[in-house]
Amino acid sequence: MNIGIIGSGNIARTVIKALEKLNDINISGIYSRNIENAGQLSRQFDIPFYTDSIEKLCQRKEIDVIYIATPHIFHFEHCKKALSYHKNVICEKPMTINAEDARELIHIAQTNQCFIGEAFWTCFNPVFQQIKAIKKNGLIGDFKSLISNIGGNGLATPRLVDRKLAGGALMDIGIYNINLMYEVFDTQFIKNTSTWIQGESGVDLQHNLVFTFDNQASASLSATIQAKTLNGAVISGTNGYILIDHVSECNKLEVYNNQRELIQVVAKEPNLTGYEYEFIKLKECLASGKLEFDEMPIERTLNILKLTDQIRQEWQLDFPSAST
Ligand SMILES: NC(=O)c1ccc[n+]([C@@H]2O[C@H](COP(=O)([O-])OP(=O)(O)OC[C@H]3O[C@@H](n4cnc5c(N)ncnc54)[C@H](OP(=O)(O)O)[C@@H]3O)[C@@H](O)[C@H]2O)c1
Repeated sequence: MNIGIIGSGNIARTVIKALEKLNDINISGIYSRNIENAGQLSRQFDIPFYTDSIEKLCQRKEIDVIYIATPHIFHFEHCKKALSYHKNVICEKPMTINAEDARELIHIAQTNQCFIGEAFWTCFNPVFQQIKAIKKNGLIGDFKSLISNIGGNGLATPRLVDRKLAGGALMDIGIYNINLMYEVFDTQFIKNTSTWIQGESGVDLQHNLVFTFDNQASASLSATIQAKTLNGAVISGTNGYILIDHVSECNKLEVYNNQRELIQVVAKEPNLTGYEYEFIKLKECLASGKLEFDEMPIERTLNILKLTDQIRQEWQLDFPSAST
């Protein structure tokens, strides 16, 4: 599988390094607005083609899939451009900044018979997948509560605090909590409330979201971009609980029984970063003609964005260059 990358920042470099070890998954081209950046990455990582033209990248016949790794606000435009060249697309989280834009991209992808998927790396991690297994096998009984917390001090990272780039805790990391909640429970909550702290630039520096579900279950989600925090989650069941070490990285999951005894540990493979899994699955999808991920279906992408739309509407937090 040959990948062309749009973007040359933090996550693009992390993914390029992670994929270096994998056979049959090649970075074949890179785009940066700055040709020197693109050239530097091409030399550093032995990428055969570099350009400052998205069109030229998308015209490359050998490229099977375009990976979008630009700030959130550009995902819609960059995905749309790649799809217009009938390229398969994998886009960093969040796929777009609102559900309407994501629906449009999905429609174009389906019309053009192209793959589209959100690079929500957590979902592909076997540690995260274990939650589904425990839910099914009843190891801790019925899931009744989720407390999930993620964050760090990202105030010095410009894109995180810039409203024009759709910054803030909700769209960058709050979505990891929401994704976990949808995995643990479902999307059918009956009530939700929130509080948030607005920064000077207008974005949310932190927030707390509370949900109730009709099976007498509840979820409490918090995220911050202004403070160091645990990055952990606890799923409580009627017969035990699960601790998750890191809500996005999913490094480890521990299961405790009713006596609070440790009964199961699942850890990420030590030699992998966690970014490999989504690209391995993508390769399998393309080989079998599948147009979306099982692990991160487009329905999940849409459900997360519908909820962030609702929350942002309540907060009256819109992003200047987007449609909501
Ligand atoms: N899955 C994960 O664990 C993870 C981790 C971090 C980030 N992300 C996601 O990845 C995305 C990028 O985050 P990042 O931390 O890599 O950001 P970043 O370090 O700021 O890099 C973004 C890159 O996008 C390019 N860019 C910026 N503005 C652009 C524009 N107007 N048009 C075209 N390209 C533009 C820039 O490259 P040039 O200046 O070279 O064009 C920049 O290097 C975000 O959506 C974020 O949510 C995911």
